[in-house]
Amino acid sequence: MAISRRDFLSGAAVTLGAVSLRTPMWALAAPNAAGSSVPLLVGVDYYPDQTPESLWEEDARMMADFGITNVRVAEFAWALMEPSEGKFDFAWLQRSIEILRTHNIVVILGTPSAAPPPWLTAKYPEVVMVNAQGLPLHPGGRRFTCPSNKTYWRLSLAIATEMARTFAETPGVIGWQIDNEFTLSDTPRCYCDFCRAGFQAWLREKYGTLEKLNQNWGTVFWSQKYTDFAQIPVPLPSGGDPNPGLALDYDRYQSYANVSFMEEQLTMLRQKCPRHFITTNNVGLVDYINQRDLYAKLDFVAFDNYPGFFKMLMEGQPNPEGSSWEAILTMVAMGHDFGRSLKGGKPFMIMEEQSGKAGQRTFSAQPEKGQLRLWTYQAVAHGAMGVNYFRWDTATFGAEEYWHGILNHDRSPSPGFEEIRQTIKELKTLGRDVLQSQYVAEAAVIYDYDCSWAVPIQPGHPKLSYLPQMVKWYGTLSPSHTGIDIIVPGADLSPYKIVVAPLPYVMSEAQAQKIRDFVRNGGTFVAGFRLGVKNEFSQIVRTPLPGLLTDVMGVTVEDYVPIYSEKPAVKLSGFSGAPDGTCGLWADVLKPSTAEVLATYTNFGYAGKPAITRNSFEKGKAIYIGPDLDPMSLARVLRTLAASAGVQPLLDLATGVEMTIRQAGGKRWIFLLNQKPDAQTVKLTKPATDLLTGQSRSGEIELGGYGVQVLPMS
Ligand code: GAL
Repeated sequence: MAISRRDFLSGAAVTLGAVSLRTPMWALAAPNAAGSSVPLLVGVDYYPDQTPESLWEEDARMMADFGITNVRVAEFAWALMEPSEGKFDFAWLQRSIEILRTHNIVVILGTPSAAPPPWLTAKYPEVVMVNAQGLPLHPGGRRFTCPSNKTYWRLSLAIATEMARTFAETPGVIGWQIDNEFTLSDTPRCYCDFCRAGFQAWLREKYGTLEKLNQNWGTVFWSQKYTDFAQIPVPLPSGGDPNPGLALDYDRYQSYANVSFMEEQLTMLRQKCPRHFITTNNVGLVDYINQRDLYAKLDFVAFDNYPGFFKMLMEGQPNPEGSSWEAILTMVAMGHDFGRSLKGGKPFMIMEEQSGKAGQRTFSAQPEKGQLRLWTYQAVAHGAMGVNYFRWDTATFGAEEYWHGILNHDRSPSPGFEEIRQTIKELKTLGRDVLQSQYVAEAAVIYDYDCSWAVPIQPGHPKLSYLPQMVKWYGTLSPSHTGIDIIVPGADLSPYKIVVAPLPYVMSEAQAQKIRDFVRNGGTFVAGFRLGVKNEFSQIVRTPLPGLLTDVMGVTVEDYVPIYSEKPAVKLSGFSGAPDGTCGLWADVLKPSTAEVLATYTNFGYAGKPAITRNSFEKGKAIYIGPDLDPMSLARVLRTLAASAGVQPLLDLATGVEMTIRQAGGKRWIFLLNQKPDAQTVKLTKPATDLLTGQSRSGEIELGGYGVQVLPMS
C-alpha cells in the first residue's frame, strides 16, 4: 500500500506528535520533504564540510534518488563555522542546506561542542579534561573538554546561539542534535579543579550542611571529617580507596555536569527555534552519564547503532556468558529497548546506523547480505521513528577514513548501497499504522545508574560488574518474546507482569516501596544477588539483608560470598527436570522466613542451604536468585518464572529469531527477525499476510537468512 503525499504529511505530524513534538514545526518542514512518502525519518549523516562544494548538488540529487528524507550535518564543523573567536561563517552551510532543500531533503543541525577548534584550546588551554590519574588530556581528538569549565560553556553556547539565530527560520531545517555522543569517551570523567569546585557547589546544594554530608558519607572513617566544603576532594589517586559515598556522588556530579552543559544549549534553542525538535545522540548502553536525565527535557531519544563494530571489538575476547554472537545480538536488541525506555516508550531515532565496514584504525567486516536491512527493521521493530545511516560518503582524510558510508572513497556505490536503497523503498510499503505503533512489553528489567556506578567502586569480586549482569539477564529473558522495557527502579511497575532486577545493590526507600506495591498488587518481582545492600548514600544498611525488601522477599541473607576457582553447583529442585546449574562469581546464601525454596547449593561450604527462593507476598510473588547462575540455568529459571507470571511466548521460535510486537488502536503486528545467516522455520498459529511481500502465510513458514517478516495479528 503506497502512501500519498497527503498521507505522508499528516502521518509525519502524527509520528512527531507521538513524541510530543509541536506539529507547526513539522508543517513548516514537511513541504520540503514532499518527495518522500514515509511517515518516518530515513536519512544519512552528511558532511558537506568535508566534501568539495562542486559535489554538493550531485550529492543532493543522488540522496533524493536514493529515497532519503533528511540529513544530519555540521556536528563537527566548529572550525569552519567560527574560524576565529567571535567571527562566524555560515554561508557555506546555508548554501548546502539550500541545495538539499531544492531536492526535498530536510536537515537536522548538530551543535559542534564535541570538538573545539585549535584556536580555542590554544587560547583557553584550561578547558581540557583531567583524567583519573590527574593528567590533562591534549587537543587533537574529540570529547576532551571539561564538562564544568564555564569558559567552554560560554564558547559552546556562543557558537550554538549564532547557529540558532542563523537557521531558526531557514526552510528545510527541522531540528537539532546538541553536541555529539556525550557517552563516548576513553576518559569518561574529568577530575580538574573546575570539576572540583563544581562538585563542592553541587554537594552544598544536595546536603545543605556539612554535618549531613559527613554523616551520610561516614567521614569519621580514616579521619575524613570535613569542616569546610572547600576541603572536599575529587577521587584522584590518594594512597587508598576513596570514601564510597564520595565516589558515588562524584559519578552523579559528573553526570549532572554534562546534563547541565547540554541543557544550557537546549534552553537557548527552545527560545530561538521554537518550531524545531531538539535531541542528542549517544552510544547506546554506555553508563557514564545518566541518560534518563540527559533526555528528560529533550524531545526524543536518539542513539547510534553499530552492530558489526561490536562484533569486531569482541573478536577473540573470551566471553564467559555464552557465544559472542549471542552476546552481540543481546546487546544490540537491548540497546534499542534501552533507548526506547529512556523516555517511557516514546518513539526514538537512530541518529547513526551502520551502513558498511565500520572502524577507525581497524575496522569490521562488511555486513553480510541482508544484515543492513535486518538492522533497519530491528530498529523499527523496537520502536524507532527514524533511521539515519552513517554516513553518506566515506572520508578520504581524518581519523575515520575507514568508517565506510553508502558511497565508497571514489564515490561509487558501496557494497551496501543497493540493499539500503531497497530497504528504504520497502519501508514505504509498511504503512503509517505500523510505523507509528507502540512497542508491547510485558516484562521489565530494572537498570539503575546508582547500582551501575556503585558496583565498580566496591565490586566485591574483581570480575563482577553491572552491565554484563544486565546483558545476561536481558539475554536470558528475551527469548520469552513478549517485549522488554528497561526501566528505572522508581518507575511505574504496574504495566508489567514480571519485573527483574539484576545486581540491585543500591536501594532507596522510594524504590523499595514501588517494588513492594507491585508485588502486593499481583506482580512477580525477581531479584538477583546483592539485593538492597546499600542505601542511596552508598552506606551499607544496618538491618539484615535484603534490607528494605526483607518482608517482600520472605528471606534474610545468611551470608554473601564471592566465588573464585571452585564453583558451587546449584540444585534447581523447583524447576522440573532442570540439570544442576553452576554458580559463577557470587553466591548469596538465603535463609527463608516465609519463602519456599526453589534451589539449593551443593558441594560448597553452604551445601544444602537455599540458593533460590519464592515468596508469596499478598497477591504477588517475590523471587530471590542468590547465585550468579550460568546463562543456561538462568534462562531456565527466568523463563519458568515468566511463564508462571503469565508471560508466554506467542510463537515457539528457534534461537536467533527475534520477535517483537507493535500495536496501534485495536491492531497488532508481529516483527520476526532472523539474526542468523541460515533460513529458519517458524510455525504460525494463524494464517497472516506478510506486509512486506503481500504473500499470505500459514503453518510452517521459512524465514530466510537475515530475513524479516511483518505479520498482522488477528
Ligand atoms: C559515532 C560518532 C560519529 C562517528 C561514528 C563513526 O560514534 O558519533 O561522529 O565517529 O561513530 O566513528
